[in-house]
Amino acid sequence: MTAEFSREDARRFYDRFGAKQDRQGFYENAALDALIRNGRFSGAQSVLEIGCGTGRLAARLLSDHLPASARYVGEDISETMVKLAKDRLKPWAERSEVRLSSGGFDYSSYGRPFGRIVSTYVFDLLSNEEIVEALAGAHAVAQKGGLLCTAGLTKGTGLFSSATSKLWTLAHSMKPSLVGGCRPLVLADIVPHTQWRIVHREVVVSATVPSEILVAEAT
Ligand SMILES: C[S@@+](CC[C@H](N)C(=O)[O-])C[C@H]1O[C@@H](n2cnc3c(N)ncnc32)[C@H](O)[C@@H]1O
Repeated sequence: MTAEFSREDARRFYDRFGAKQDRQGFYENAALDALIRNGRFSGAQSVLEIGCGTGRLAARLLSDHLPASARYVGEDISETMVKLAKDRLKPWAERSEVRLSSGGFDYSSYGRPFGRIVSTYVFDLLSNEEIVEALAGAHAVAQKGGLLCTAGLTKGTGLFSSATSKLWTLAHSMKPSLVGGCRPLVLADIVPHTQWRIVHREVVVSATVPSEILVAEAT
């Protein structure tokens, strides 16, 4: 049986965790590199990031990959994360904003339409029902042909990454807060094909931790 990790648990956990999130780079960095390679960010004029955390990916996108005219909106359920991201994105204050989210999945108040909807290591802490809601909310604010770009924990592909993924799933089922509420999942199996057409999927393994990279076009 899997223990619950509620929206309130997530808010409390990430308010405490704060800047420590950036220490997850030992497995996230390679996955984010793959996401950036496949997300066609140089052609994007607007980005919405769901669960932006400390703003680490946003700063990378704004400094090196998005056109100078592109607009960025990030949102997060944690006040600590919103503050960290706002501080980090000060150099791009004129074209970026970071908003505190209630944790819901209606993104229409953030403006629209967005050419890219980005979310990394967030869907893997939502329930499957919440993921479907979040994907519908994202689809409602995506440009037609806009891209959903995600990275998250997934099942392993070889001996070591499969063992890591199984251990991670076990830890999550015993006490979700041990692993920040996140568990390995296959997002490609959940994405509704009536809304999104998957254009790229790969599994990147770093330090034995497998991450699924998904790029899907809004239909
Ligand atoms: C594992 S961290 C990932 C942060 C960042 N995206 C990264 O890759 O480093 C998960 C983030 O999602 C946020 N979060 C959790 N549930 C959320 C929700 N329902 N809506 C928005 N943000 C949420 C947390 O506060 C946290 O910052």
